[in-house]
Amino acid sequence: MSDFQMTEAEMQDRLDLLLSTGINPNEMPKHIAIIMDGNGRWAKNRGEERIFGHLNGVESVRAVVEAALQTGVRYLTLYAFSTENWNRPKEEVAALMDLLVTTLVKETEDLKGKGVCLSTIGDLKALPKDCQVQLKSTAELNPEPHRLDLILALNYSSKWELIEAVKDIIKDGVTEDEVNSEMFESYLKTAGIPDPELMIRTSGEHRISNFMLWQLAYTEFHFTPVLWPDFRREHFLAAIYDFQNRERRFGGVPQQTDK
Ligand code: FPP
Repeated sequence: MSDFQMTEAEMQDRLDLLLSTGINPNEMPKHIAIIMDGNGRWAKNRGEERIFGHLNGVESVRAVVEAALQTGVRYLTLYAFSTENWNRPKEEVAALMDLLVTTLVKETEDLKGKGVCLSTIGDLKALPKDCQVQLKSTAELNPEPHRLDLILALNYSSKWELIEAVKDIIKDGVTEDEVNSEMFESYLKTAGIPDPELMIRTSGEHRISNFMLWQLAYTEFHFTPVLWPDFRREHFLAAIYDFQNRERRFGGVPQQTDK
């Protein structure tokens, strides 16, 4: 990613925000992945249809994109539609796809102006044509240099991604000796993107639901009971604070202290 220059005022605002919440600006996660969950329950709690929850979930997407920009997170991956989500009632699937298109139409200019680069992971071929067209035209307007990579996982599942990688490896005639971690990663849809240091799941569920199984190998998980449509900057900051208070050992032993 090319460097995007923040103004002095933006840098000061970032520092003020982080320090006021006890977050160490020098230990920020570069990549945060989010499983946005709880839209249906949020709507049901209000006696509304599930799609009302998705509609309100868009406000939370806006809030986390803004929070990522303000805090200096460089990559934000949102699990927006899984390969299993096709099993929902067809009206809900259609409404979700429409919502994606209308949101992109509405937000593209703003995203571009803020230095947000949009990309996707997932099998887009199965998405409705208008969805594919809009994703392409939004991505064509991606600004350079950019400040944040916003990655939408759409018609994505990790098992699908891993199987695709294996198929491509076989097609390329890779030999047994050539197989290693780096080589395998280069075949994943996230090639070139650092693994998330932090994964957030909302709505009190403690599962990873076929999401980034390879990439989450050493990721810290933050589970919050907050339902996605209620998720705001304060929850995002709380997750980062929680992350910074974990001891990351990557299979090693605790760091020696002088005590
Ligand atoms: C999970 O809640 C949510 C989804 C499957 C869809 C997420 C979509 C959005 C937030 C809106 C559109 C997104 C973008 C990027 C514009 P659920 O329906 O499974 O909730 P439940 O577990 O309470 O039923």
